[in-house]
Amino acid sequence: MSASARPNVRSDPALEAKGLNTYYGQSHILRNVDFRVMPRETVSLLGRNGMGKTTLLRTLMGLARAQSGRIHLNGIEITGARPAAIAKAGLAFAPEDRGVFPNLTVQENLTLAARAGRGARPLWTLDRVYELFPRLAERRAHWGNQLSGGEQKMLAIGRALVTNPDLILLDEATEGLAPKVRDEIWATLRLVTATGIAAVVVDKNLEDLLALSDRHVIMSKGEIVFDGTTQTLRAEQALIHRHLGV
Ligand SMILES: Nc1ncnc2c1ncn2[C@@H]1O[C@H](COP(=O)(O)OP(=O)(O)OP(=O)(O)O)[C@@H](O)[C@H]1O
Ligand SMILES: [Mg+2]
Repeated sequence: MSASARPNVRSDPALEAKGLNTYYGQSHILRNVDFRVMPRETVSLLGRNGMGKTTLLRTLMGLARAQSGRIHLNGIEITGARPAAIAKAGLAFAPEDRGVFPNLTVQENLTLAARAGRGARPLWTLDRVYELFPRLAERRAHWGNQLSGGEQKMLAIGRALVTNPDLILLDEATEGLAPKVRDEIWATLRLVTATGIAAVVVDKNLEDLLALSDRHVIMSKGEIVFDGTTQTLRAEQALIHRHLGV
């Protein structure tokens, strides 16, 4: 829900990043990126290949180091903190490659990630994840490397959920998945965000994201070039064509 829809309710951002500059070696990737996510908000992160979306998520999660800039999570500074500390502070990351341990079972993958929550929300337990993804329940004794792409994606989301985060970063949410599995991921994500978890979602499917998210952010060459609502973005056909190639 956007702040403008609730004019009397003021809340602080769940995540606020200011002036981020991230390099890979000599390559300047993120260029003065300001990025914020409000509590309960679902934000899409869009842009062509190589524009810096994954780098932004990795920087927020502490997997890439920002050379300058500051990041706050729930008002607490996490700039330069280790990924484990950032996870503990309430941020979760489901990476594009899914990060599933191939030689552990589904159940072991989830157990390893599980952590007690801090907020007032009901806890995401293994049982709740299995309810959300009945397919994972059926596969609980299977090894990570025995899972289909869709099942691995579900496991990656499940692993993020059992850390009981306030905000989940989901890279390439449905890449390479069959349409039916893709729809399953979107439906599940809606259930998750309805419980009050904020989300940043990267995906190539613009129409799906327009339907899913409250707000959309477009990156080009490491900079934010658009930040607005679905309605605003739909009206910007030239921008969509230029930066998303559709
Ligand atoms: N480990 C790395 N070392 C050096 N350069 C990298 C590394 N990872 C990414 N880059 C470069 O950083 C830039 C941004 O990459 P990034 O992966 O963040 O883009 P992206 O928007 O996520 O792209 P895609 O849509 O293909 O996933 C690209 O030019 C890429 O080649
Ligand atoms: Mg990427």
